[in-house]
Amino acid sequence: VDISVASSGGNTTSKIPFGLMHEDINNAGDGGIYAELIRNRAFQGSSRYPVSTSHWTPINGAALSIAKLSTPLSQALPSNLHVTPGNSSNSSSGTIGFANDGFWGFDVRKQEYKGSFYVFGAYEGKFTASLQSALTNETFGSVDIPSESSNSEWIQHNFTLVPTKDAPNSNNTFALTFSSSGLTSTALDFNLISLFPPTYKNRTNGLRPDIAEALVGLNPKFLRFPGGNALEGPDLKNPWRWNETIGPLKDRPGRPGTWGYQTSDGLGLVEYFEWCDDMELEPILAIHSGLALDGAYISELALTPWIQDALNELEFVLGPATTPYGRLRASLGHPTPWALKYVEIGNEDWLAGAPSAYDAYRNYRFPLFRSAIEAAYPDIQIIASPSVFDNMTIPVGVVGDYHPYREPDAFYNEFGKFDNLTTENLTLVGEFASVHTNGGAGWDADLHPFPWWIGSIGEAIFMIATTRASPTIIGATYAPILRNMNRWQWSSCILEFSASKTTLSTSWYVFNLIARTDITATLPTTPSGNTSSLFFVAGETADGARVFKAANYNTTDSVDTPVRVGFEGVEGGRKGTLTVLTGKEGPWGFNDPAVGNNVVVERVTDLVAGEGGVFEWVMPELSVAELVVGGE
Ligand code: AHR
Repeated sequence: VDISVASSGGNTTSKIPFGLMHEDINNAGDGGIYAELIRNRAFQGSSRYPVSTSHWTPINGAALSIAKLSTPLSQALPSNLHVTPGNSSNSSSGTIGFANDGFWGFDVRKQEYKGSFYVFGAYEGKFTASLQSALTNETFGSVDIPSESSNSEWIQHNFTLVPTKDAPNSNNTFALTFSSSGLTSTALDFNLISLFPPTYKNRTNGLRPDIAEALVGLNPKFLRFPGGNALEGPDLKNPWRWNETIGPLKDRPGRPGTWGYQTSDGLGLVEYFEWCDDMELEPILAIHSGLALDGAYISELALTPWIQDALNELEFVLGPATTPYGRLRASLGHPTPWALKYVEIGNEDWLAGAPSAYDAYRNYRFPLFRSAIEAAYPDIQIIASPSVFDNMTIPVGVVGDYHPYREPDAFYNEFGKFDNLTTENLTLVGEFASVHTNGGAGWDADLHPFPWWIGSIGEAIFMIATTRASPTIIGATYAPILRNMNRWQWSSCILEFSASKTTLSTSWYVFNLIARTDITATLPTTPSGNTSSLFFVAGETADGARVFKAANYNTTDSVDTPVRVGFEGVEGGRKGTLTVLTGKEGPWGFNDPAVGNNVVVERVTDLVAGEGGVFEWVMPELSVAELVVGGE
C-alpha cells in the first residue's frame, strides 16, 4: 500500500482522545484499585447482602458475632464485630482475637502498612496487629498498639505495621489480637478495621499502585465514573448516592452494588476526583438519570428531587466554598472546586426498561436534567447516555455516548461508521471492547474469557477510526477496565489482577501503542481510507512530529501488507521510529494471568526514509504499528 501524508489540512483533534471508565464491577473498586486490604471492614450490609462476620475468623476460641450497640460507631455503620473470650479454656486467660482473609489474600511486602480500628469496651493492655501466612502461620510482621479503649465511647487506634520480610505468596491473613486477662468488660466491640499498603502518589484512602500505574501506561486523558450500571443501582431504592460516598469513612454506609456484592463506598466521589487529579485526567461525571437497572424509572412528577440532588452534587464539585455544598467540599480538604467540564446524564438509558423507560428519557428525563444543569452551569458539556446510533436525536450542543461491545469483524466492517458524523453529532465512546468471537452466538454466548489477539486488533481498528473522527468523537475508553480474577461478572477487561499480581491483557498492549503518542491534528492521506486489510490514520504531535498508526487485519485471508508511507516535507534519509506489535500465538492467543505469559511481541526499529522520504515496511497479518518521525 502506498500512502502519502499531507503536511496540513486535517482536523484539530480532541484533547481527550482516549481515557478510562471505572465502575465497581469485578471487584474493580473494593478489592481492586481501592487499596483497602481488609474485606468486610465495617460490617456494612443491606437487605440484598445482609451484614455478617464473613471474612473474619476467631483466634484461640474467641466468639465472634455481629452486634448493634446502643452507641453505634455512627449512624452509617450501626453494626460491628462483637468479640468475647468464648468458652474455650485456651482463650480464658490468653491471647484471643480475629483474623481477616482480605480480598482473596494479602500481598505482604517489606513496606509500611497503615492501619486503624475503632474499639468500644474496657480493656487494659495492648492490641497486636499482624500479617501472617494462612498456610504456615509464619508471622511476617506485627506491631503492638497500647489500648486506649473505653467502655463509654468508641476510640480509634492507629498503627503502622512493617513486615520484616516479603511473603512468598498472597495466601496470608491479617490478625488483631489482645489478652483476655486485660478485659474489664465482658466483650470488646470493633468496627472500621482498616489496613492500607502504600498507595499511588501516597494518597490517604488511595489507589493500589500497581493497578494505577498500569492504567497510567494507557496514556489516558479522562475518567468516566461511577458507572456503567453501577451508577443506576439494582433498583430505585439503591442508586449510587454521591452524598453517601463522601466524608469520613465512618459516615459512609455502603450500598448493595449492581454487580452482586455490597460495596463499601470507600472509593467515593472525592476519591474519584483525586484519582483524576493524580493522573491528570479530565473527569466525566455521570449523574443518576432516574433509571434503575431493573428498568424502573421516575415519573415526570416525581423527578424534581432527583434533579435537585444532581444540582447539589454539582455544587459540591463546582461550587465556591461559600455555597452550602461547596463549603462541605472545603471541609473535606478541597477548598478549590474541581474543574468539571463533562456531565453525563444516566447510563445506557436505551437499554434497561426500554421501550417505556427510554421514551421517558427522551421525552422528559433527559430534557429536564439537561435544562436544570445548563441553567446552573452553562459551561458544562452535557452528555446524553445514548448516541445517534441508539435511535436518539442528540440535540445540537449535546454529546452522545456510544457503547460498542462487538466481534472483531464488526469493528472491521464498521470502520467508516463515523465518517458522516459532523460537529453537530459529537460523540463519546464511553465503553468499547471486543467481547464476542467472529461468527459466534453474540450475546447468546458468554463473553470471551479474556481479551484475545484478534479481538484486540479489532479494537485497534476501532481506535484508529475514532482518531480519524476526532474531534467529532471526543474520546473513547475500553470498558470495563478491571477484573479481579477471584470474583468477576465480566470477563473481557483490559487488566486482570489478584491480591499480588496485575496482568496486562493483549488489549492493554494494543491500547498502549495506539494511545501512546498524542496526535494534536490529523493529516490527510492519499488514499484517504483503508485498503482491504490496512486501517490507518496519520497526524502530527504538538512538537511537530509526524505520526502514522495502522492495524492490519483481513477478515478472509491472512495478508501480510507491504506499506510505503511518505510524509509531505520529509526527505530521504530522515529517521523514524517504527513500533510493531504482533501476536506470537495467532488470533486466539491471550495473556493468561494463571500462566503469566505475554503473547504480544513488540519490535521497535529505527527506520530510515528512502528516496522521496518514503518509509517502507511490512505489516504482518494481525499486527498494529506506529511510526513516529521527527519532532522539534
Ligand atoms: O462495562 C460493563 C457494563 O456494560 C456497564 O456497566 C454498562 O454500561 C454496559 O452495559
